[in-house]
Amino acid sequence: MAAKPDSVQLEVRGGIAVVTVDNPPVNALSRHVRQGICDAVREAVADPEAAGIVLACAGRTFIAGADITEFGKPLEGPGFLEMIDVLDDSPKPVVAAIHGTALGGGLETALACHYRVAVASARFGLPEVKLGLCPGAGGTQRLPRVVGLEKALEMIVGGDPIGAREALAHGLADEIVDGDLTEGAVAFARRAAAAAAEGGPALPRIRDRDEKVAPARGDPAPFDAFRKKHARRMRGFEAPEACIRTVEAAVELPFDEGMAREQEIFAELMAGAQARAQQYFFFSEREAAKIPDVPRSTATLDVKRAVVVGGGTMGGGISMCFANAGIPVAMVERDREALDRGLATIRRNYENTAARGGFTAEQVEERLGRIDGVLDLEAAREADVVVEAVFEELEVKQETFRRLDALAPAHAVLATNTSALDVNAIAAATGRPESVIGTHFFSPANVMRLVEVVRGEKSAKETVASAMALSRRLRKVPVLVGVCHGFVGNRMLFARQREATRLILEGAAPEAVDAVLYDFGLPMGPFAMADLAGLDLGWSAETSTGSTIRERLCEAGRRGQKTGAGYYDYEPGRRAPKPSPAVARIIRELAEERQVRRRDDIGREEIFERLVYPMINEGAKILEEEIALRASDIDVVWVYGYGWPVYRGGPMYHADEIGVDRIVARMKELEAAHGEEWRPAALLERVASEGGRIGGR
Ligand code: 3HC
Ligand code: NAI
Repeated sequence: MAAKPDSVQLEVRGGIAVVTVDNPPVNALSRHVRQGICDAVREAVADPEAAGIVLACAGRTFIAGADITEFGKPLEGPGFLEMIDVLDDSPKPVVAAIHGTALGGGLETALACHYRVAVASARFGLPEVKLGLCPGAGGTQRLPRVVGLEKALEMIVGGDPIGAREALAHGLADEIVDGDLTEGAVAFARRAAAAAAEGGPALPRIRDRDEKVAPARGDPAPFDAFRKKHARRMRGFEAPEACIRTVEAAVELPFDEGMAREQEIFAELMAGAQARAQQYFFFSEREAAKIPDVPRSTATLDVKRAVVVGGGTMGGGISMCFANAGIPVAMVERDREALDRGLATIRRNYENTAARGGFTAEQVEERLGRIDGVLDLEAAREADVVVEAVFEELEVKQETFRRLDALAPAHAVLATNTSALDVNAIAAATGRPESVIGTHFFSPANVMRLVEVVRGEKSAKETVASAMALSRRLRKVPVLVGVCHGFVGNRMLFARQREATRLILEGAAPEAVDAVLYDFGLPMGPFAMADLAGLDLGWSAETSTGSTIRERLCEAGRRGQKTGAGYYDYEPGRRAPKPSPAVARIIRELAEERQVRRRDDIGREEIFERLVYPMINEGAKILEEEIALRASDIDVVWVYGYGWPVYRGGPMYHADEIGVDRIVARMKELEAAHGEEWRPAALLERVASEGGRIGGR
């Protein structure tokens, strides 16, 4: 197969062949690139004018990995290993010239070169684990031979890249180039070629190295310790354990056998459901950034100064997001006491992170220095963006926006962090509804990656684009949603909560309900989650009617973890939920009063269907009403906002895994038993009758 013209170029500069990959946007190793590299390197090896070879990339980055769009399709052109061997076997020194990110197959390509030089901003990583895979082009066997067992495990199983300086310290990079990268690499190659010509040592091939892995041979302890240390993070995922096994192979087996082991494990993972889901999610996340009527070219606001109104749970967290991103922020509170409390919480959060090694004491002060606690909304006069996070009451928010309208400069974006109120009604309190938008952060806001950007009826395109861009600048994952009660995430959560409560009234124990979702891969079930958030959100003793389990628990002083009791009991200072006989009694009493028929045969499958199918149904309605742009956006909301396991794609992806026809059939049975809330959404019915997929992939 011929290389695609221009995707790999070859020229000889001052006695060195420069092979340049040019395959925008990220120089992925598409088949024509693999072919092009094989052809160019073979040609350079045969060229008497070239004493050495530089492998460089045009555009924004070095090779960022395999071309993920080719996964699941039959291999065409040379395989990765053929290409890797062409580099590894070159009798002339090959130098990889790295800028941007050398990721996955890109780093593996660089590892097959004899040397690696990089600019100081370059990053090196093997992120395959995040796609449900292990590196499959020799990375699992070569990296440990360069950086040793510990670092290799961290990089291969964790998947996060390291910077060039760290790469240099670990021997992964041979030199940092300050000036022009290609020139630096050519000079390096010239020196290497001269040394070889003078009968210097043989060209260094990583495959031949043993000194970093030999000491670990025959000792399973470091692997077991690693497994134990990361058990929580790896729970439910197949790829991390598989990655560990490839590194074990690197330590225990000769290189070629280790390579064969890597190939076996790679193929197993690639054929699995988790890898498919994680690759779907990779593209879903990027798709979520695209808004059909708001092109990338839409003007966005340059945010230099922010104001956050309200310094409570969310306002404090959001202020930290601004400070972390280097944006000065004024945090406005009602009174001195609330302000001091808010600022003290922020300081404590930063200090806790610093104590865990997250950052230094100076960084704590630097970030705190960007947060200015104030008692006057006048600060809004200077703001490019205002995020309101006051109490969840429409009148309070409207009053805040009326005042912001009078104070904030004309160009400012006015955002509300409401979790369920009508953004249009909030916008209507101003004379500039086009500048108003929702930015729904998730708690804790300084940690959770999701922001639902809520587009109001009148939000201008520039406002939408600015809110999306700002969220990204705050290192969040923004997903555009429309106005409705609870937007996408909470609306689906409410549907799940309704059924969860019914299940316990009908006889399932809260811990049995929670266990089903925990075992499915979510971080916790609905009742543990309610205890964590606090049962008294929106509850007040004066208006409580004792007509729901939640109200009765609150009345009994069981307001969640913070009071040591909620749906579960908690030992002082501990977060582990323990089933509560008192709660079982409260549930039983209410069920009797309401004459709910209790059963002791509610099994795991029924619990799963009754929790997850209403979410899927609500998701379908959200699509019908165009509250979300696409099914995959809903999945992004659930993975980043609620910890839906990414190896299961998301609730809408999972609907297709189960089969929409099966879901609809079961919902109709449940509709007969439990009433019309179980009626399948029209969209689900249609997809089921057409035998199609709701996720569209
Ligand atoms: N294959 C195909 N397309 C890719 C791709 C890849 N490896 N990496 C990125 N793209 C596409 C994205 O889908 C996006 O397309 P779009 O504009 O149409 O949405 C475009 O390139 C730009 O990507 P980003 O928006 O992510 O750009 P950023 O500049 O934010 O990030 C990046 C660049 C850090 C390289 C990031 O894209 C990334 O992390 N890519 C994936 C890297 C990766 O996982 N590599 C390993 C692949 S598996 C492998 O190599 C197997 C091997 O071991 C055999
Ligand atoms: P909170 O009660 O912890 O904080 C609200 C703060 O706003 C209080 O400190 C209060 O003193 C202050 N405040 C009230 N009126 C004010 C005014 N006029 N000017 C300045 N400050 C004022 O509430 P929380 O949890 O931070 O919620 C804030 C908003 O974020 C609400 O709209 C809520 O629905 C939303 N939200 C909450 C989430 C959560 O998990 N807590 C998650 C996502 C959104």
